[in-house]
Amino acid sequence: MVGVNRQPLIAGNWKMNLDHLQAVAFVQKLDWSLKDAKHDAGTVEVAVFPPFTDLRTVQILLDQDKIEFALGAQDLSTHDSGAYTGEISGAFLKKLNASYVIIGHSERRDYHAETDEVVAAKVQAALKHGLVPVICVGETLEQREQSGPTAVSVGQLEVALEGVAAGAEIVVAYEPVWAIGTGQVASPEQAQEVCAALRAVVADKLGQDAADRTRILYGGSVKSGNIASFMREPDVDGALVGGASLLVDEFAAIIRYQKHVGV
Ligand code: PGA
Repeated sequence: MVGVNRQPLIAGNWKMNLDHLQAVAFVQKLDWSLKDAKHDAGTVEVAVFPPFTDLRTVQILLDQDKIEFALGAQDLSTHDSGAYTGEISGAFLKKLNASYVIIGHSERRDYHAETDEVVAAKVQAALKHGLVPVICVGETLEQREQSGPTAVSVGQLEVALEGVAAGAEIVVAYEPVWAIGTGQVASPEQAQEVCAALRAVVADKLGQDAADRTRILYGGSVKSGNIASFMREPDVDGALVGGASLLVDEFAAIIRYQKHVGV
């Protein structure tokens, strides 16, 4: 059960999948599938996070076909502009009507050596350009065994929120590294435990209002068959979905979880 004032958010992280032509076909099919099922777009916010090269195309499609999905990017630069070959400015993302940007995904932390400090700088860059950072945190199995379920995520979020204003809009995503792309999903109780601890960090750093308002997502092997069990937890306000966000029927079923909460 999502907190009364928090609109559930189902976010599809495409990672490095779907070129801009495939993106058009995918977004159209997803839209048709939801409209076919008479899905009420107001009940759940849907966001898609395509690769950079797709953003402009998807933006135009959403606009032209009046599709109510929010658009997000998968990363951004800490810098505004300048001699940073290969980097993408938050200002450019904002110009494309992107609302969100994923920051600190474990794949960025692992493969691109992004430290907590880099993540914090990216959070600042996102907020500066009017983007909502989707701040990803999560522990490896080894870290869970060594320091328990919450310590790593709590520590990562504390650093990411350094210097963030109390009124800032942020989204937090708890993604245990051992559950990402592995099919080894966390239990709803495990997700709830960490999401509650993360909400306490938001309360501590940004105040109780921010904690009540901030959406905290679970991510890691989310599917249509398990989404409802996560959404029943009081501190889980949505999901960051990887693999299953690339399958039209599966992602549509995840978005429509309210229809199968009892399943
Ligand atoms: P997954 O990925 O759903 O494929 O496990 C989640 C993510 O990395 O955001």
